[in-house]
Amino acid sequence: MTIRCCSLEETIQFGEKLGSRLHPGDVIALRGHLGIGKTQLVHGIAKTYLEADVHVCSPSFTIINRYEANGKAIHHLDLYRLSTLEELESTGYWDAVEDPDALVLIEWLEQVDRAEPLEFVTIDISFENQTDLTASPRLYELQGSGDLHDRLKDLF
Ligand SMILES: Nc1ncnc2c1ncn2[C@@H]1O[C@H](COP(=O)(O)OP(=O)(O)O)[C@@H](O)[C@H]1O
Ligand SMILES: [Mg+2]
Repeated sequence: MTIRCCSLEETIQFGEKLGSRLHPGDVIALRGHLGIGKTQLVHGIAKTYLEADVHVCSPSFTIINRYEANGKAIHHLDLYRLSTLEELESTGYWDAVEDPDALVLIEWLEQVDRAEPLEFVTIDISFENQTDLTASPRLYELQGSGDLHDRLKDLF
């Protein structure tokens, strides 16, 4: 099944629905073209998961951003600028990704070989209209298996 979001507002609302189903220790990879809305989806997820409108910004330079509110935490990662596991490990990657007390959301996981966490699901995002990417509706698909997949699958 595929979810279709026609505007930034719809993407944020979809993220809010996801956020209310997520628990500490959950890991989600967000996969899709630059500018497709991965970071904006994190913004929506953070609103309901943290029950606060925190400032979500792209971790492309910091690699890992941490957002905290109401006793809950999110590690938001962006591996776009990295290419080796050694570089990634020097950022404290495994401590963040295996943190049982935080929700973990990763952009560009596919960029670094052998960086896959033990258990995670992937949300694949694509453009419906290839000729006008900016204005195109975004399509969301859930990939993976296990407990987290089962908890989210009826939203897709
Ligand atoms: N349906 C949509 N969903 C998400 N973002 C959208 C949508 N339509 C337009 N946008 C715009 O696309 C951009 C997505 O940026 P961002 O979330 O930083 O992308 P990414 O993290 O995937 O590189 C934002 O400027 C947002 O306003
Ligand atoms: Mg991003």
